[in-house]
Order: sequence, then structure tokens, then C-alpha cells
Amino acid sequence: MDYQILKSNTKQQTAFITISRPKAMNALNAAFFEEMDLLLDDLADNKELRAVVITGEGKAFAAGADIAEMSEMYARQGEAFSNTGQKVFNKIVAFPVPVIAAVNGYALGGGCELATACDIRIASTKAMFGQPEAGLGLIPGYSGTQRLPRTIGKADAAYLLFTGETITADEALRIGLVQKVVEADSLLEEATKVAETIKTLKKTLNEGMQMPFDEAESLESSLFGSLFETAETREGMEAFLNKRKPNW
Ligand code: CAA
Repeated sequence: MDYQILKSNTKQQTAFITISRPKAMNALNAAFFEEMDLLLDDLADNKELRAVVITGEGKAFAAGADIAEMSEMYARQGEAFSNTGQKVFNKIVAFPVPVIAAVNGYALGGGCELATACDIRIASTKAMFGQPEAGLGLIPGYSGTQRLPRTIGKADAAYLLFTGETITADEALRIGLVQKVVEADSLLEEATKVAETIKTLKKTLNEGMQMPFDEAESLESSLFGSLFETAETREGMEAFLNKRKPNW
């Protein structure tokens, strides 16, 4: 597959995906979703992978769904475009290893939904967030009306959705939309540090949150136990006891 919009490279078991359509503020069009869908499948086949970092080139992380493309759509195409976005973003949610959004600039509309679909958001001081769809006579279509309130709580989500206000990285940090704000030149380095997590945590967190508490505790115990069969866990504990860094 010849990717036109996404650039990707893998360094030390972390895959970096860069949305590279800077002239259109990395607006999310049909080609973006096709490429992201394929790239995620491709990366999921790499059993060595420990994390994925998604970022954008230029001034934007992604300034939303492609308004020019949407302006040509009617009900059926609009619904299908929404379904496609939901399906691809759900793939990020269910991706076997943690996915970190390294938000370099504007994360508006569908761009904010993309960031919210990631497990963790690290923002540069230049990042801006918002759900401006109402100002276009639209609503979010990539699960934003549902995932945003489940991420930051209903009241703050309602505020962003109803007002369409664009907020700074610091404000996004205050309401829990981002987990860390860093200088622009250290964004990828910080995201990489956070990315060094083990994938079992993601499975426990995601699957456990859909279960009653006692069932989720059983899942935790069973996954906790299964880790004792892995070389990684043995090495992690042994390294601590020998006062050295784990050799992963
Ligand atoms: N779709 C298509 N093109 C877009 C775009 C988008 N979402 N956002 C920016 N662009 C294009 C602009 O049209 C412009 O193209 P031209 O150079 O050909 O004129 C180019 O990118 C640069 O943009 P600006 O000149 O506007 O740059 P700026 O620095 O003045 O402003 C911005 C940057 C604040 C991000 C502004 O571009 C903007 O407000 N963009 C739209 C944000 C938005 O409303 N997003 C929500 C989309 S709807 C949605 O996402 C629905 C959904 O959930 C499914």
C-alpha cells in the first residue's frame, strides 16, 4: 500500500504515525480513514510492538473531518462517513498495545475525537482542543458525543460540545482531556516515555471498565497471574532485585 497521508516508522518497538496533510490542517478525509485502517491492521501483526504514538505534521494534529469532502455529502454518505470514522477509531480503542496521542497543534472536531480515542493524550503547549461542529450545523460523528463525556465527564463535555469553544492545552489538562503538557520540542520524547507501558494494562483497563467490579477483579487476578509466565515480568522483577534496569 502506497500511503499518501500517513507516514509511519517504528523505533525501539514504538510505532510513530504522522498525519501528513499539513496544507489542509490534516483534515480527516476518506483516504485518511482507509490508510489508518490498513496501517493499524499492519501494525497489529507486529507482535514485538509495545506502543503507538500518533501525531500531526505542521500546525495541526487534525483540524477535524474534511469539510470540503463533507459539503458534497447527503444523508446516506454522511452516515457512512460517520460509521467509517467510528469503526477506525474503535480499532484504536481496541488496539492491543497503548496508543498515545502526541497533540502538536489544533485537535478540533474529528481531530479531538481521534485524540480522545487514544489511551493517553500528551499535548504540546501549542495544542488547541475543541468540538466546533455545532458552528457548522453539525454534531461530532466519530463517537465524540459519547466518548468525550465518558472521558472528561458530562458537564465539561457538554460545555465543549454546546459552545464549540477552542481551549488551550493547559485548560485541556485542567479538565482531564490531556494528561500532560510539554514544550513542543520535547513532545515526541515525552510521548515515547509514556508509551513504554505493557499491553496487559490496556486489556485489563478497557475490558474491566465494561464489567461489574467483581468480574473485573477476577479478570485482573487472572491477567496478573498470567504475567508470571512471561520472560518480561521475570526480567522486570529480577532487574529490580539486582539494582539494574530491565533488559527489555
Ligand atoms: N476540512 C477541510 N479543510 C480544512 C479544515 C477541515 N476541517 N480545516 C482547515 N482546512 C483547510 C482550510 O480550508 C485552508 O485551506 P486553503 O488553504 O485551501 O484555504 C487550510 O486548511 C488552512 O486553514 P486556515 O487558512 O483556516 O488556517 P488558520 O491557521 O487560519 O486556522 C483552524 C486554522 C483554526 C484549524 C481553521 O482551519 C479551522 O477552524 N478549521 C476547521 C475546524 C473545524 O471546524 N473542525 C470541525 C470539522 S467537522 C467534524 O470534525 C465533524 C465530525 O466530527 C465527523
